[in-house]
Amino acid sequence: MPATSSAHSASPDRARRIFDDIEEQFRLDQDALVKITEQFLADFSLGLSEYNQPMAMIPTFVTGVPNGSETGTFLALDLGGTNLRVCEVQLLGGHQFSLRQQKYRVSEALKTGEAAALFDYLADSVDAFLTEIGSQSPTLPPGNSPFSSPSLFDMPPQPEPFIPLGLTFSFPVEQTALDQGKILTWTKGFAAKNAIGHDVVRLLQDAFDRKHLHVKCVALVNDTVGALLSRAYTAGGCILGSIFGTGTNGAYLERVENIKKLGDNPARQKGGFMVVNTEWGAFNNTRTVLPTTQFDNKLDRESINPRLQAFEKFISGMYLGEITRNILLSLIDAAPRPLLFNGRSSDDLNRHYGLDTAVMSEIEEAWEAGREHPSSEGAPKANGVVPDWQSAHFTDVDKLSHEDVARLERIRGVITQRMGIPAADVSLRDAAVVRWAASLVANRAAKLSACAVATVLVQTERAQLGGGFVSDEERIIIGVDGSLIQFYPNFGTRLRDSLRTLVGAEVEKRVDIGLAKDGSGVGAALCALQAVKQD
Ligand code: GLC
Repeated sequence: MPATSSAHSASPDRARRIFDDIEEQFRLDQDALVKITEQFLADFSLGLSEYNQPMAMIPTFVTGVPNGSETGTFLALDLGGTNLRVCEVQLLGGHQFSLRQQKYRVSEALKTGEAAALFDYLADSVDAFLTEIGSQSPTLPPGNSPFSSPSLFDMPPQPEPFIPLGLTFSFPVEQTALDQGKILTWTKGFAAKNAIGHDVVRLLQDAFDRKHLHVKCVALVNDTVGALLSRAYTAGGCILGSIFGTGTNGAYLERVENIKKLGDNPARQKGGFMVVNTEWGAFNNTRTVLPTTQFDNKLDRESINPRLQAFEKFISGMYLGEITRNILLSLIDAAPRPLLFNGRSSDDLNRHYGLDTAVMSEIEEAWEAGREHPSSEGAPKANGVVPDWQSAHFTDVDKLSHEDVARLERIRGVITQRMGIPAADVSLRDAAVVRWAASLVANRAAKLSACAVATVLVQTERAQLGGGFVSDEERIIIGVDGSLIQFYPNFGTRLRDSLRTLVGAEVEKRVDIGLAKDGSGVGAALCALQAVKQD
């Protein structure tokens, strides 16, 4: 038997007031979404005109997108957030590629210690990977080349053989050339010392050289740029690459003439297009238009970068679990009587970042499984009792259907196993409350993500805010990557629903959002190719 509801013992009015208040804080109506998008457009414009703006709008010196015919074999190193990956990427032409990769863990000590130690670790990982794949490749030519394809971009053998490597470095970098750029700031929990202001390619190359590795970092790319290039490679075109994962960001193709801050840089004279890395995670750090809740404030204050990356903190996988944890704790601690789990917490819930966004995902999945109508906006409620993801008004657990009880039981299972709350303290109603909290947070994230995507559509003159078709393109191709968009139930559907309200159905239905598979690896390889060709 499920435990009796902790909220039952509180007065229903009081509970309702508290739930209503939380829900109100997370509300984002159409007007708010439009305002946010307008502010986004203004920040884009400022960032394109001047350096040192909150929205960095970084020119990447990538001036075209691939068409899928490119070939060659490259090493790629990807330092992003959760993992470090080393890959060997073979661009096969015909929109195809193959990839071998190895993941390595980046410890907290490396993230926050000396930069030299972090970059030594990157070099060691590349070394380990080369040894590993070298030992697996029967076709290896003699010497130190790891490539199974002997044709390195159909180029004659290099006088001084080195292996070209593309670095995907998913942090803000003020890029000055394809293989040059100073680290502007750390994000996503990184804080390595003596890195800010230094050239990231130099830091890596020095580490390779210290270890006498015959590897040369020839190109530097953000993961969003990688996503854009890799989707273009497989789909034959792409205007925006965006990440909804541990962090969030987007890179898009902008007319060079609009990147006013490039001044008389030769790249500007050439005209045409250039990929701009927006670093939209820093949108509205002043929080004038972002609807900040008490739970966001708590997260921000306790983060290692208070008042920075405001937008990212509303949206990305690193933070959604933490916002939800803050909501749950406020309900557990509600005085004079608790509103959740009989007032019982757990070691996991008491720990900073102790609730992983993946757990929210499991909770929503447990609810969605077997449901006819996924919980996107406008979908009918399962019945009048259990809340849809927008409503906390559920009072009568006795009236639940068998299916709903089964769903809530599954959620109870996730709560006991993944949050460590004893089953006796988790009522069905508690299960519904936890799902409600998770979906409030995730839904807001998806809506805000739609504002960022809409901004790019308007900025590139493919849409107008409020609807109305502008371009006659049949397909507007967008590449996405990241754990949220890949694995969080209905994140993509919710994003699309809001996008439709912002730019109109006519444009939205032409938007082809597709996974930029292995974007970081393939994108780095494509940039390395561009760099080698330019040499
Ligand atoms: C953070 C980084 C950004 C990256 C994004 C997604 O926002 O600052 O460079 O693209 O995370 O990984």
